[in-house]
Amino acid sequence: ALVSMRELLDHAAVNGYGIPAFNVNNLEQVQAVMEAAKETGAPVILQASAGARKYAGEPFIKHLIEAAIEMYPNIPLVMHQDHGQNPDVCQGAINLGFSSVMMDGSLEADGKTIASYEYNVEVTKKVSQMAHKYGVTIEGELGCLGSLETMKGDKEDGHGTDATMTREQLLTDPEQAADFVKQTQIDALAIAIGTSHGAYKFSRKPTGDILAIDRIKEIHKRIPSTHLVMHGSSSVPQELLAIIRQYGGAMKETYGVPVEEIQEAIKHGVRKINIDTDIRLAMTGAVRKFLAENPEKFDAREWLKPAREAAKALCKQRYIEFGCEGQG
Ligand code: G3H
Ligand code: 13P
Ligand code: NA
Ligand code: ZN
Repeated sequence: ALVSMRELLDHAAVNGYGIPAFNVNNLEQVQAVMEAAKETGAPVILQASAGARKYAGEPFIKHLIEAAIEMYPNIPLVMHQDHGQNPDVCQGAINLGFSSVMMDGSLEADGKTIASYEYNVEVTKKVSQMAHKYGVTIEGELGCLGSLETMKGDKEDGHGTDATMTREQLLTDPEQAADFVKQTQIDALAIAIGTSHGAYKFSRKPTGDILAIDRIKEIHKRIPSTHLVMHGSSSVPQELLAIIRQYGGAMKETYGVPVEEIQEAIKHGVRKINIDTDIRLAMTGAVRKFLAENPEKFDAREWLKPAREAAKALCKQRYIEFGCEGQG
C-alpha cells in the first residue's frame, strides 16, 4: 500500500534502522526492489529522478509504481520524487500521485549555481507548505554534495555543479541545519558529509578526513527529531567493478561509501539512504557477463533476467545490512 515517507521514517527512527531509497527507471528495477523487499520483509522507498521521468515518461513511472502496489499490496511503499529542482517539479510529482518529494534548493533552479541560504529556505518552505497540504512528505537539502578530496561538486552523473567549493559548503553546519528545519518545517533533511553522486566518489577507501560521519552525530544531536538523509550512498563494491572489467567494461579505480560507515550513520539519525549507482553496476556487470558468455542469444528477456537478479541481490543485501528485515 502507498504510505507517506513520514510514516516509514518515523517507524525506522523508533526502531533504530535505516531504509535504502532505490532509484528506479524501468520495469526490471521496480521488480528487483519489490522482490528483494518481499523476501526480506522490508518497507520500500522507490524514487524517481527528473531523469527517470524523462527516460520512462511520466505515465510509465506512475503506472509502474502503481503496478508494484497492486502486485504487493502488503508491502508499505513510498513513491518519492528525487532531487526536485524547483517547486513546479515537486508540484508535478504531487499531481502524479507521489507520496513524498525532495525540494533540492542547495542549487538554484538551473541545477548548476550554488544557491544562497536565503534562496534555499524560501523555495523549500514554499514546497513544504504545499506538500503538507496534501499529506505529502518533504525532504530538503542543506549543504552541497561534493568531494572533500577534490573540493568539487559532483556534476559527473549529469546534474549538480562541478564548481570548486569550500569545506564550509561541502559540510552541513549543525546550527544552520537547526534554523533551516525550523524555518521550513521539512520532515527529512539531506546533509552534505563528503559523499557525492555516481561511481567516482573516492580515490581510496574513505576515512574520517574525506567522509565526515562525525558531522552526522553533531547534526543529530542538534536536531534529534529530524530524519536525516544520505545521498550518494552507493558502496561501489569492488566485486561488481571486477565483473564489469572482466567482461570488457572500462572503469577506473574507485571507492564508494563503506557499508560499515552507513551502519554507523544509522545509529545517529540517518533514516533514508539513497542508492542508484550500485544497482547500475550490478545490472551492467550481469548483462556484460551474460552476453559475453552467450554470444548467440538475442532475446532481451534472457539478458534482462540476470540483470534483474543482480539488482535484486544488491537490494536484499542493503535491506539486511540497514536493519530492514521484517520491518515492512
Ligand atoms: O541523484 C541522482 C540519481 O543517481 C539519479 O540519477 O538523474 O541520472 O536519474 P539520474
Ligand atoms: P549514488 O550515486 O551513490 O547511488 O547516489 C544516489 C542518490 O543520491 C540519488 O539521489
Ligand atoms: Na544538491
Ligand atoms: Zn541524490
